[in-house]
Formats: sequence, structure tokens, C-alpha cells
Amino acid sequence: MPDAVTTADASSPLLRMQGISKRFPGVRALHEAHLELRAGEVLALLGENGAGKSTLIKMLAGVHQPDEGSIEVHGSPLSISGPMVARQAGIAVIHQEFNLIPALSARENLFLGQERTRLGWLAAGHERREASRLFQRLGMQIDPDRAVRDLTVAQQQVIEIARALSFNARIIVMDEPTAALSPREVEGLFKSIRELRSQGYGIIYVSHRLDEIFEVCDRATFLRDGQYIATKNVSELTREKMIELMVGRSLDQEFPKRKSQRGATRLAVRGLTRKPTVRDVSFELRRGEVLGLTGLIGAGRTEVARLLFGADRADAGSVTLDGKAVDLRSPRQAIASGVCLLTEDRKSQGLVLNRSILENFSLPNLKRFAPWGWIQQRAERKAFQEFVGQMRIKISGPAQLAKQLSGGNQQKIVLAKWLQRNADVIIFDEPTRGIDVGAKFEIYQLINNLAEAGKAILMISSELPEVLGMADRILVMHGGRITGEIPRAAEATQEQIMELAVR
Ligand SMILES: Nc1ncnc2c1ncn2[C@@H]1O[C@H](COP(=O)(O)OP(=O)(O)OP(=O)(O)O)[C@@H](O)[C@H]1O
Ligand SMILES: [Mg+2]
Repeated sequence: MPDAVTTADASSPLLRMQGISKRFPGVRALHEAHLELRAGEVLALLGENGAGKSTLIKMLAGVHQPDEGSIEVHGSPLSISGPMVARQAGIAVIHQEFNLIPALSARENLFLGQERTRLGWLAAGHERREASRLFQRLGMQIDPDRAVRDLTVAQQQVIEIARALSFNARIIVMDEPTAALSPREVEGLFKSIRELRSQGYGIIYVSHRLDEIFEVCDRATFLRDGQYIATKNVSELTREKMIELMVGRSLDQEFPKRKSQRGATRLAVRGLTRKPTVRDVSFELRRGEVLGLTGLIGAGRTEVARLLFGADRADAGSVTLDGKAVDLRSPRQAIASGVCLLTEDRKSQGLVLNRSILENFSLPNLKRFAPWGWIQQRAERKAFQEFVGQMRIKISGPAQLAKQLSGGNQQKIVLAKWLQRNADVIIFDEPTRGIDVGAKFEIYQLINNLAEAGKAILMISSELPEVLGMADRILVMHGGRITGEIPRAAEATQEQIMELAVR
């Protein structure tokens, strides 16, 4: 049974959502969910992939309307029929995928939709100063005239938060804000969050990284399958308890054991260079091995993966597979040589959002299923169903559009579609980004199975506990170079990695 809704102190809370239900065709996204946010607190909203977190948040943004239930802001009922209503009520939502316009400048994005009465050039000068002031307040240097597409993810996020401050929002909602940030940028964000909290803002914080909840949140509300489970003070929770409230069962370990045998060298890289992002990178990857590749965002890790996958061309260096030199000019060639890349960016590289899940799954597998004519469809569906079951992907059916899946479930489909291939050098780029703690375990197990089957795995990850828990060896990159190797991950510490990562 769900706990009773916690009632606020004497004054009414900033925000109260009660008995919220929402159905999409074939899916019950929310069923009588509750949430209450007080001034001056950071409230975590936790739950597995597809639990309904983003759906609940989108109601605050005016993107979805509840089928049932009520929303109160400062004690008064409010029907959030659209984004303008949300804004006028002082609610700012920073979505899982940002809403900035890449071609416009930081300043233009910041003030988009906020009418200014002054003459154009005057307004620009005023806005520029205002923008700099807001960025500074959030502890980030950003040139207001720089186009958003040339900014880092962390800078884009600061613009989103600055935008919230610029229209005096009191309720700020962040949906997985750290998914694409480096550790240092996460620290910066936390500083801003603490600052906002001390000024009486109410913040709703969604993340699958449990460490962060302990670090920055005061209370946590748990959803499971669209239903309200409980609200707890974070200080009363342990990691285990949190996991249990999220997934409804306890996990006795976070990283499954692997029994793989390190075999012969499958991939060797010598002096790989593509300026300015990759410089003189050399390493070997053996069969049956999980090699971790970590470092701060922008260290060149993804760029190394793209070179190995033939998505970019190297200026210099050589790659051998089983000791034979290969020239990976294109992804097609890489795939034919048994090299496969699971990208971190599911939106632009991984999924066709307007196609069905089944189509997305089959797209790279046409060759495999095609020769069988009409049997193709059955084989395809069977493979698909197996994967959906194994990964516990929450979908209403194979015909559901990819864009209708929750963020984490999209990521699982990307994994599914590539793992159908018979690759034996598999590069995972941030494989568990946005994935809930229960499903992470399944992905780890899957990676272990691949390693045990003799495949060579390169795992790029920014989550240090994950690299330490999963890799046999760890390479650390900084500024395009490999700054160190940790031969036995099991005996290493996060501090050791961080030291190499900033060198
Ligand atoms: N526009 C939509 N059309 C159909 N179904 C949807 C739509 N948006 C969400 N859903 C479904 O509603 C459920 C809840 O999704 P939601 O995005 O709220 O999950 P979430 O808790 O944010 O998960 P994640 O941690 O993966 O981001 C999922 O089953 C999802 O597929
Ligand atoms: Mg979500």
C-alpha cells in the first residue's frame, strides 16, 4: 500500500499534484500519482524506466494534461493547459532533451518568447548584460553571442536554468540533468541547485544516478508502474532501500560476476590520431576482455570510438584486427570486419523516432532476416520478443513509435538492435546512460555474456563506479591522449581515475 501523502508544514506547499492519472493508447502511464514540493527543497522523483516520471513532469510543463487529478500551485488549483500557463505560474521544466534552438545564440535562446518593448539594438545590449549576469550567477562563463550548437551540454543546461530564473520561476524541474555532464560540470550544477534551494526555490530532480540523490536531494518520491509508492526523507534512506522502493525487489549486487578468459589480442591500435581531438592513442583489446575507457566529457573517448567504427577518418595511426592491418573507411566496412559501435546519442544516431520499435529493431538486421522471405517476419518478431523480455523493455507493442518510449527504454532498443549483429568487437559508448538501476544490471549481465562468449568489449563510460565494477582494465583519457592505464580495475579507486582524468 502506498504511504499517505506527506502533508507540508503550516504553509501550503509550492506545488501539490494529487490523484494524477494518464493513459496513452495501450499504456497506463500514471495511475493516481501524488507529489508535493515545498519551498526550499530538492525533491527527487525516482522510478524505473517507464515509471511515469517524465509524463508527470510534462504535465507541469503543459505538454500533457492529466486525465484525472488536480494540480495546485501555492495552494490554488491550476489547470496547466499549455506552456504559457506553466510559465505564468512560475514553473520551469528542463526536459530530458533540451529545447534550445541550435542556430540561435545563447542570449537569443535565453530570452526567446519574452517580449521586450525597447528598440531592437537597445534590447540586445540589455539582454547581453542580463544574460552574462545570469550565467555568472550560475557559475558559468558563456559568451551570450555564441551559437548554442557551439556550446557544451553543460553550458546549454545553464542556459535552460538561466531561462527559468529570467522569468522568475519558483518551481524548477530537471529531468536527468546530469546525464551528459562530466563530474566537474555536475559539481557546478549542484552548486547552482544548492544556491537556488537556499533562496527558497523548489526543485524537482529526476536522475538514475543514486549517488546524486544522496548528495543533493532532501526528500524522494517514488513511482512504480505509474503508481505512487512513497515519499521519504533522503537522510532516512540507504542505497539498498532506494533500489527496493524503485524496482520493488532488492538487488543483492550491482555488478554481476564475470567468468571470462582473456584470449588473444583481437584489436590493436597504434598512434591513432585525428587532430585536435585524438592524439597518438595506442592500446590493445583482447578477446573475452572488457576494457573500460573513461575520462571527462570532451576527453576524446567518443572520437576514438568513431574512428574505430569508420565514422571519421584518422590523420595517422594504424588499426589491426587479429594482427592484420585494416583500413576502416566506413561504418559499413567496420561492421563487415566485426566491429560495432553502440552510440551514446540515441536520438541522432541510434533511433528513427518516427518509426515503430520493431522497424527500428530490424533496420540494421535486414540482411540477417531477409533471405528467408516470409519467414523473415516471424524470426524477426521472435528475436524481438526475446529481447524485450530479457531487457524488460516497457512497450505497448511492437508497433509503438520509438518516440513514445520513455528515455531509458529507447536506450534499450538501441542496444537490442545492435546486439542482434554478429559483431565480436563491441564498443559501448555510455551504455547505461538514462537506464534505471534494475535494468543496468541486465545490461551488465549482457555485457558479461558477450565477454564470456569471447567477444572483445570496449566500454566507454563516465560513471566511475560502473567502470570500476565492470572493466578488467581501464584506460583514462584527457585532452585526446591516453593519460594512464589501470591494469586491474578491481583494485583501483575513483580518486586514481580522477587524477589521470585531469592530468
Ligand atoms: N507520447 C506518448 N505516447 C504513448 N506512450 C507514451 C508517451 N509518452 C510516454 N508514454 C509511455 O508512458 C510510460 C511512462 O513513460 P515516462 O516517459 O513517463 O517514463 P519515465 O519514468 O520518465 O522513464 P525513463 O526513466 O526511462 O525516462 C511509458 O510506458 C511510455 O512508453
Ligand atoms: Mg523520463
